[in-house]
Amino acid sequence: MFKKEIINILKNEISLKEKDIGDLIEIPPNPDYGDYAFPCFILSKKKKKNPKELAEELAGKLKISRIIEKIEPRGSYLNFFINKNKLAEKIIKINANFGKTNNGKKKTVIIDFSHPNIGKPMHVGHIRSTIIGDSLMRIYDFLNYNPVGINYLGDTGLHIGKLIASYELWLNKKNLKKDPVKELLRLYVKFCNKEKIQATEGMDELASNNEWTNKAKEKIKLLELGDKKTHRIWNEIRKASEKGFNKVYDILNVTFTETTGQSYFEKRGKQIIADSILKGHAKAEPEGAIFTESLGKKKYILRSNKTATYITYDIGAAYERYENYNFHKMIYVTDFRQKEHFQHLFNIMKIFGFEFSSKMIHLPFGTLKFGKEVMATRTGNIILLDEVLKKTVKKAEKEIKKRKTKGDPEKVGVGAVKYLVLKNEPIKNVHFSWKSLNFEGNTGPYLQYSYARASSVIRKAKNFNKNKISTDNLEKPEIALLKKISFFPETVQQAEKNLNPSLIANYSYELAKLFNEFYHSCRVLESKKEAFRLRLIDSFRTTLHNALHLLGIEVMEEM
Ligand code: ARG
Repeated sequence: MFKKEIINILKNEISLKEKDIGDLIEIPPNPDYGDYAFPCFILSKKKKKNPKELAEELAGKLKISRIIEKIEPRGSYLNFFINKNKLAEKIIKINANFGKTNNGKKKTVIIDFSHPNIGKPMHVGHIRSTIIGDSLMRIYDFLNYNPVGINYLGDTGLHIGKLIASYELWLNKKNLKKDPVKELLRLYVKFCNKEKIQATEGMDELASNNEWTNKAKEKIKLLELGDKKTHRIWNEIRKASEKGFNKVYDILNVTFTETTGQSYFEKRGKQIIADSILKGHAKAEPEGAIFTESLGKKKYILRSNKTATYITYDIGAAYERYENYNFHKMIYVTDFRQKEHFQHLFNIMKIFGFEFSSKMIHLPFGTLKFGKEVMATRTGNIILLDEVLKKTVKKAEKEIKKRKTKGDPEKVGVGAVKYLVLKNEPIKNVHFSWKSLNFEGNTGPYLQYSYARASSVIRKAKNFNKNKISTDNLEKPEIALLKKISFFPETVQQAEKNLNPSLIANYSYELAKLFNEFYHSCRVLESKKEAFRLRLIDSFRTTLHNALHLLGIEVMEEM
């Protein structure tokens, strides 16, 4: 909230850009050292001066303001002190828009997320893309961008070939009716067992000469040629799995601007590749496969039998999305193992002459491990997302009964799962266990509970907004909470800049902890400071509400 103020004070006296000043400003670990700090190292190098002397010199020159009441040098740092009364006056006036900015100016940001594969159930591995992507959508919306969420279904490719082949061979119609997702999974796993290829998906399989893999390739070929029967089976598989996906999205309260799939972009991808051959940007192998020299190697973009590969579709999709949306940024949220794929994609788009390639970003996330195992559909070693959500909601139900409290088990359970995913920085691995879905400590339910607690105090207050508010004689827990609230807007902006919702998650936890500490040590109702404290609690509520909204976690007034 006050970073801007400090930048304004500094910018007249030092020769750094506003943005660089902003990036350098820190929060001192010990509040006695000040509320904000500016390290002088970079500036001192530029000026060829001793950083300590520079800090002293600047402290003498800089002008304090209404809000910043003191500026002090400490070692190589300049420390800024906020006037706590002014801070309190500002914080108690915040409203539901707290933290929103117009940084986005309605610029379009596409987020390609969730994107499960048709015919496979969503397992816990998919949950990270879905939940991180949804949180980014909310953050961009909050900062007044125009976020466009795209669910790009894996509706073709080798695994679809495998499914079609196994569907023809082993389908049990009764099972398909009863539980389509489960039956499709059984077929897929059976096929993979026959195939027994341990390699990762993608190019390696293309090169192999496995009898079973060849069956799958044959099906893809038929599909691309528009064979009626193959297409009908493909459609059945697609419909059945979309039903399953939508059930999960409903529970998670996740929506998309558009749902497409790889197959939508096959024609466009091939067309672009044909053009690029003419322009000399891509070449054909003697046996027909098309490649581009990318990042020091041959990257195949079309198979020798002229069927599309994973990247063919992405080339077409990127082009069409730019045509449709003229995006300012496009972010692909996927597992880190796709890093190289996206490096090639961005590089190839650049080679092909599409300048918008510089606006494409890959946000990789780490593995979600269950016990010691990495989940993979091909081995059948997966925990279904459905199952995790159901189990967590059950657990919430029990907990709520035990405590004899109100509260919506679905909101609590889903909140717990989302928070577990979001509190971790995307790139880190997450170890998932049923235990990690406990409801105490750094968890979603703890935050929801803190919110409900604040709501209940406000509900009980008879004099809310009636008595005169004084911001005098602030106590330590009050100041700590006020300061934390004031950091919210910067935290959101930081989360956007780094594509890292965990900054907001962990902020929420620290905020709730400070609220609970304050509530334990400061009496609210019928105390002399009731009016001020109620307002402070209300501002805390507003801030936590907004923070949890950005994580996709719903709050309850009673819990
Ligand atoms: N369906 C793919 C998978 O599950 C992810 C798709 C990512 N998005 C994209 N445009 N390639 O691995």
